[in-house]
Amino acid sequence: MEFETACIHAGQTPDPTTGAVMTPIYQTATYIQDGVGKHRGYDYARTGNPTRTALESCLSALEGGQFGLAFASGMAAIDTTLRLLSPGDHILTSNDVYGGTYRLFDQVLHPYGMDFSYVDTSDLEQVKSQLRPDTRMLWLETPSNPLLRLSDISALAQLAHAYSKNILMVVDNTFATPYLQRPLVLGADLVLHSTTKYLGGHSDVVGGAIVGNDRKLQERLAFFQNAVGAVPGPMDCFLTLRGIKTLPVRMDRHAQNAARVADYLAIHPKVAQVMYPYHPSHPQVELARRQMRSGGGMVSFTLEGGAAEAVRVAESTRLFALAESLGGVESLIEVPAAMTHASTADSALAVDPGLVRLSVGLENVDDLLADLSQALAKDNTI
Ligand SMILES: Cc1ncc(COP(=O)(O)O)c(C=O)c1O
Repeated sequence: MEFETACIHAGQTPDPTTGAVMTPIYQTATYIQDGVGKHRGYDYARTGNPTRTALESCLSALEGGQFGLAFASGMAAIDTTLRLLSPGDHILTSNDVYGGTYRLFDQVLHPYGMDFSYVDTSDLEQVKSQLRPDTRMLWLETPSNPLLRLSDISALAQLAHAYSKNILMVVDNTFATPYLQRPLVLGADLVLHSTTKYLGGHSDVVGGAIVGNDRKLQERLAFFQNAVGAVPGPMDCFLTLRGIKTLPVRMDRHAQNAARVADYLAIHPKVAQVMYPYHPSHPQVELARRQMRSGGGMVSFTLEGGAAEAVRVAESTRLFALAESLGGVESLIEVPAAMTHASTADSALAVDPGLVRLSVGLENVDDLLADLSQALAKDNTI
């Protein structure tokens, strides 16, 4: 199946009992057994649910993996992935990751004995110099949140695996989605998603996923998924599956709109710097064009007026809603230092308080540009 077809059909056959074309929401906690210990593939809904199975199969197909596992949130998926490691293990991670990922690493897993080094994973030499005999995981987010920095997935996979067969390379593919970039095909061991974002696509469900190829990893992760129990409910799985059906068409329009927004901001006199992977000013634009099908829907920028101006602009838009999260059909604006990345404050990962992040939605781009124009124009100080 081609990607667009898989989005609509992978893991989803019409319901054998009723012929329902859409995957039913199997709203059940348990399943009847034909005899003691003789069930029909499902015994308890924490362990498995047919709506979840459909989502997991679909996610696996989209990433080109052998298995997919769905979780109650992106953070639950990240936490479950880290359970593959033990206290004392070393993890090398991007120094520009989602604030919640940093909080989990720094405030939950580090006190539990895991050792994290934060490096600029866009710089191969830096990664090379920080690999250690006890390194067990290389954690990437590309494009990163919120600076939209890129890491070269295939070069880093080669580097890490050549250094040691015991290093798992994990890519958080939330910003790009499998439509723009497929980390497993580029050499990663596991792919991580907050399906809350582009996969769900409508800001109406929270979820997460892990996808991979290795059957042993599948066994261990599925064990943790069941043993820990941070699983999504069937309604959440249904909503995510429904969102995925339109992923390619949404991503194309997100990218078209975001590219126009980036072009507009790049020449605006009040904007100091614009960050967008496909924009000619992006320092890794060549890598972006090689690794990603398009630049995606996220744009970040800083203002000549600094932090106060960033807050003022974020509070002045009318169409761009001032809200956390991203990847929905509607446009959102936020100031990461005070919102999504507040947990990085006072750390080496602290985000510039003058940075504004946009999740560019599917509205008419002229309306979006007009909204940004009026928000930027309000201030007369520059
Ligand atoms: C890149 C990235 N990874 C993971 C997460 C966590 O996902 P969730 O909010 O679904 O737990 C987020 C949330 O914003 C994110 O942006």
